[in-house]
Formats: sequence, structure tokens, C-alpha cells
Amino acid sequence: MSTDRVSIGIIGGGLMGREMASAFARWCALEETGITPVLTAVADLSEPVLSWFDRIPSVQLKTRDYRELLASPNVDVVYVALPHHLHAAVYTEVLRAGKDLFAEKPFGIDLAAARQIVDTIRETGRFCRCSSEFPFLPGAQRALTMARDGALGRLLEVRSGFHHSSDLDPSKPANWKRLSRTCGDIGVMGDLGMHVLHLPLRLGWKPQSVYAQLQKGVPERPNPDGSTTACDTWDNAVLHTWTEARDQRVPMTLEMKRLAPGATNSWFFEVLGTDAGVRFNTADPKALWVFRRDKEQWWQRTDLGFGMPYKTITGGIFEPGFPDLMQQMWAAFLLERAGRLDGRFGCVTPDEALASHQVFEAALRSHAGATVEPVTRNQG
Ligand SMILES: NC(=O)c1ccc[n+]([C@@H]2O[C@H](COP(=O)([O-])OP(=O)(O)OC[C@H]3O[C@@H](n4cnc5c(N)ncnc54)[C@H](O)[C@@H]3O)[C@@H](O)[C@H]2O)c1
Repeated sequence: MSTDRVSIGIIGGGLMGREMASAFARWCALEETGITPVLTAVADLSEPVLSWFDRIPSVQLKTRDYRELLASPNVDVVYVALPHHLHAAVYTEVLRAGKDLFAEKPFGIDLAAARQIVDTIRETGRFCRCSSEFPFLPGAQRALTMARDGALGRLLEVRSGFHHSSDLDPSKPANWKRLSRTCGDIGVMGDLGMHVLHLPLRLGWKPQSVYAQLQKGVPERPNPDGSTTACDTWDNAVLHTWTEARDQRVPMTLEMKRLAPGATNSWFFEVLGTDAGVRFNTADPKALWVFRRDKEQWWQRTDLGFGMPYKTITGGIFEPGFPDLMQQMWAAFLLERAGRLDGRFGCVTPDEALASHQVFEAALRSHAGATVEPVTRNQG
């Protein structure tokens, strides 16, 4: 089978940059895309990070200056995985350099930055999508289909969330994700919120009003040299929203937590209606829970196996995992870029990323706003 080659450059080879590199390295697992990503260039400020990429033979350029990567004719698509305060400047430079962009969430540190990125995409006409991988899981896809098909009856509630507990340990060192200056005033919403809003926004369920509860956790964390750094970001956010779905007003809760005791990386999506319901959680990655109502009421569990949207060599009975999701997401990105998505599930669009920032900004305003006191008995 002939396959088109797409040269990829990575800016930011940290946690996510390396995850993506490994997804390309086992691209042979994917069938039928007809497109092969080849990692040719990496830019990162850190020498140890750059040397990690010695193990990828196709990498011809390793540089501390990302502008050198942008000047390379041997890069078609740039994946950027940098701290949030750098998103707007680097994303817009990538687009202006004539490259297509796979952007990490949250797509700018705030709403103004997201607007700037979207404006530059329109101005340059480049192809751009934003990263959010969990909806590519078979359980998430089935939940999406059920929610879209309208078989659930009158919708009662939607719950979409992402919980982990990495920040519960107060001795965990400070890093850029715990500082508003580099992570953003939106804090955990910037970290986890795009994952939580991807399916609701794809279903057209944009929140129309938001009541936000935002919480902070450990106020300072240790540095390797024994000093401490003040950590000022929101760690947990619960957004009680109203949305409109099928001409009905539906309560939709969006939960983003870095302090969720016991959770390692639990992304979940749940839609309940009067006739049926669906529930999926990555804590149990093969299981789809479906509610049905006849004479009695049932929650049924189905083991979905490896039914990914983009076919791979992996047998249908096996379990999907995080690295598989990266490949699925890249398959969607590359096929959509080539105009060959053919109605299949695609990555977050720039407009969806912008819409997520509008929700986060409303959440900040809600949290800062006046609270309503319960009526107390007149003591007089
Ligand atoms: N999709 C997901 O599941 C997921 C998961 C984690 C993080 N992310 C996102 O990925 C992005 C990066 O997060 P991460 O966890 O990989 O961070 P990280 O801290 O592990 O990596 C960031 C890298 O950027 C490099 N860097 C910083 N400034 C630079 C510059 N000016 N030029 C070149 N390199 C520079 C750092 O040296 C570091 O190696 C963020 O936007 C984050 O929200 C996405």
C-alpha cells in the first residue's frame, strides 16, 4: 500500500512531546490510514530532553531554538507541547511560518490568547486542531453515538469530568502547572477542561450559564534546593451549567479535579435520560454501562474490547490504553488534514477550543461573583 509521508516537528519534548514521538515510532500498528508521520525535528531548551530523541533515527534536527525548526523545509506539521503562557506566541509563529499545527490544550493561557490563535488560523488558512484524546476510546465513542441518536428519551442530566490525585501529596515539587503565571488563572480548567468539554461541545451542548465552585489545594511546594514556591492555581473546579439539548434545558456538570482521592487518571462521561442512559469511565476502560427501562430498570455492563475508531493490528479482545489514544488522535488529525476523515470522529477544532475558554472565563467570573445567602429565621 502506498502511503503519504508527513514530516513532523515537535516543540517541547517533555512529557507529551515524548509520548507523541513514541506514537509515531509504532505507527505500523495502524492499518489503512495511508499516511505516515515521520518525526524529523525537535526543539526544547533542555539538553537531556534533546538527547532522549537520539533513540529516534528519523530525527535530523535537534535544537534549543524552535525558530530553527520553523525554518526547516523538512517539517510539514508542528506539534507544540509547551507551558501555557507560551502557547499564543509560539502557535501563531508556527502558523505564520507556513506550517500546520497540532496544538496542545488549553490552546492559550486565557480567552484573549485563544482568540489571538483563532484569528491567526483564519488569517493564514493553515490547518490546526487541538489535542484531546479520551473521546477516541470505544466506550466514549459509544456514549457519543447514544447521546447523539436521541434514544435516551427526555434528557435529565449530563456529567463530564476528569479526576486525578497527583496533587494530594504536599511534598510533590512545584512546577509550572501549579503557578497562575505559567498555567493560567484558569488553573485546573486549563489542565483538564478541554478533555471534559470535547464531547459536550461536539454534541452542540455548549453551556449557556455557569455556576462555578473553584478550590485551591497545597499553598506552597518544595523545590529541589530546599526552598519553597507559592502555588496559587485552582486545583479543583466543579461547574454546574445549564445547556440546551434537543430543545430541552439540561443540567450539565463539568468536573475537573487534581485533588480527587484515589483517582489516577479518570476521565468520564455520563448522560442520563428518561428511557435510557450511558456511562463510561477510563477507570474501567473496556466497560460501557447502559441503562435501560422496561418492566424493570437495568444497568448493563458490556466489555467493549479494542473497538477503536481507526483500525489497528491489535486484536479486538484486548484493552486500549493511553498510548493507543495518542495514535488514534494523530490518525484523526492527519486524515482530516488530508481531507479524508469521511465523517469519522475528529480532533478538537479551533472553534471548540475557543468555546472551552469562554466557559472557563465565565467560571472565573461566576466564582468571583456574589453568592446568595440562605434565608435565615428572623431572630427579632
Ligand atoms: N493531552 C494530554 O493528555 C496532555 C497531558 C499533559 C499535558 N498536556 C499539555 O501539553 C503541554 C505540555 O505539557 P507537558 O506535561 O508535556 O509539560 P512538560 O513540562 O513535561 O514539557 C514542556 C517542555 O517544554 C520545554 N520548553 C519550555 N520552554 C521552551 C521553549 N521556549 N522552547 C522550547 N522548549 C521549551 C521544556 O524544557 C519541557 O521539556 C501543555 O499544554 C499541557 O497542558 C496535555
